[in-house]
Amino acid sequence: MRLLYFLLFVGIGIQVMAQTNPIIPKPVSYQSLSSASVKLDANSKIVGPAKYQAQLQYLQASLKQQTGLQLGISKQVPKSGSYLLIQEDPNQIDKAEMYLLTSKGNEIKITVKDLRGLVNAIQTLLQICPLQKSSSFEVPAVAIKDYPRFEYRGMHLDVVRHMFPLEFIKKYIDYLTFHKFNTFHWHLTDDQGWRIEILSYPKLNSIGSWRNATLIGHFNDKPARYDSTRYGGFYTRKEVKEVLAYAALRGIEVIPEIDIPGHSRATITAYPEFSTKPDTTWNVATTWGMYNRQNNVLAPRPETFTFLRTIFHEISDLFPSKYIHVGGDECSKLWWKADPFSQAFMKEKGLKDEHALQTYFISQAAKYLKEKNKQVIGWHEILEGELDTSAIVMNWGGAKEGIEAGKLKHRVIMTPGKPYYFDHYQSHDPKDSLAIHGYNTMDSVYQYDPVPAALRDAKLDQYIIGGQANVWTEYMGYSTKVEYMIFPRMTALSESLWTPVEQKNLDDFRNRLKQNMQPRYDFWGAHYFKQWEQWTRDKQ
Ligand code: ACM
Repeated sequence: MRLLYFLLFVGIGIQVMAQTNPIIPKPVSYQSLSSASVKLDANSKIVGPAKYQAQLQYLQASLKQQTGLQLGISKQVPKSGSYLLIQEDPNQIDKAEMYLLTSKGNEIKITVKDLRGLVNAIQTLLQICPLQKSSSFEVPAVAIKDYPRFEYRGMHLDVVRHMFPLEFIKKYIDYLTFHKFNTFHWHLTDDQGWRIEILSYPKLNSIGSWRNATLIGHFNDKPARYDSTRYGGFYTRKEVKEVLAYAALRGIEVIPEIDIPGHSRATITAYPEFSTKPDTTWNVATTWGMYNRQNNVLAPRPETFTFLRTIFHEISDLFPSKYIHVGGDECSKLWWKADPFSQAFMKEKGLKDEHALQTYFISQAAKYLKEKNKQVIGWHEILEGELDTSAIVMNWGGAKEGIEAGKLKHRVIMTPGKPYYFDHYQSHDPKDSLAIHGYNTMDSVYQYDPVPAALRDAKLDQYIIGGQANVWTEYMGYSTKVEYMIFPRMTALSESLWTPVEQKNLDDFRNRLKQNMQPRYDFWGAHYFKQWEQWTRDKQ
């Protein structure tokens, strides 16, 4: 009898295990149903609104890639056999990006009211289908209701310090889509190169996209060593359009960053007349971290503002996003202090110091963007002067900077260096692959709340619209290294930005990461940091 109870107990246990929610990021509500699971085979159909034809094809291709099974797309629900029905119903869906997914009997039903809801539902469906080829398979009977905690969920990629093939940019977008992020922040310009084709100022590409050498090893190594390889390139407008179309189909908004008025060494190399020393022959930076070390700022000359208006218009015409990122970070004041022209300009405009001059540049950029119906995102240093509150602040500091921005009634995206900088180390292993510094473990990414207690106490939570991890690529020469640095931290971030905070559970997440995500990384052929289990948050 005891044995019977034991077997019964184990049996129930196995059944519960099999029904455990495998999905990352964890949905708001996941309910196993007692009905029969849905069997999909070669006769099963995908049925959905014509306006989502591209997404239906994307679902068809993704399922085929994962399971080997190619479902037909049909205009109507088939008379017999199983099917996957996608429908729009605003009455059942009361939030942006929300979806319902119910599977039982011969029907898998997805209900949405917008494209992102559908894209999110597709990712969930892929996670409850087997990750293995077969001629038919079963989808468990479930009822899922799901929507995001934050409206902005982003990943950044610096393609300046190192540039990556277009195919990798698309792969990166696929990674975002899978994890239900909605924004790709594309860092396209910096001291070490321009990475986007600009028609109106062609020397940005012929000169500004190329550097003559690159630092070898770590920035702190003494003496500094350089290779002698010309490095660079840029994404053409045609390639950018290809990325935009690829992202749009997958519900990802692409926000380009043109970093001004600092981080502009490549610009002034191409056009010295925009610098504080127009007679100088500059070079595109070959080292990292220019702040206060090498002149990289724009001078407030009439021709500089004409330049900024023209390129921000060109960028606005190319990118459909409502927001354009104008940088505004780490702007050294030394070069303006030493420049009589800049000083005279500040006096003439009544700008009290160089911080005010920096904000003047940002306000001008905001004005040019407004002419094209766009708004500004900038790093938190844009608040060093007075700026109108339509600008979104991307805070790479901590709670303190978030509070300052919120108090000024700016919307804030949290991207704190600790723990959302994925260029930091994820272990203390001296043999770990080179990184800039720091220690941001997967656990700390998971546990960090983008609304820190100090912000909640200051009653500023409503200003926090989301979060993002930044991927600066000084020490990521190849796309495989990018993968190694983002996985599994990006997976942890996705749940932190999506799942209701009271439902987060690190142990449960670690289990899903191990059971469900690692096989997925392998399926993608993606590199990842395999020792995450041993480098916990507590191991300082
Ligand atoms: C930054 O890390 N300078 C935004």
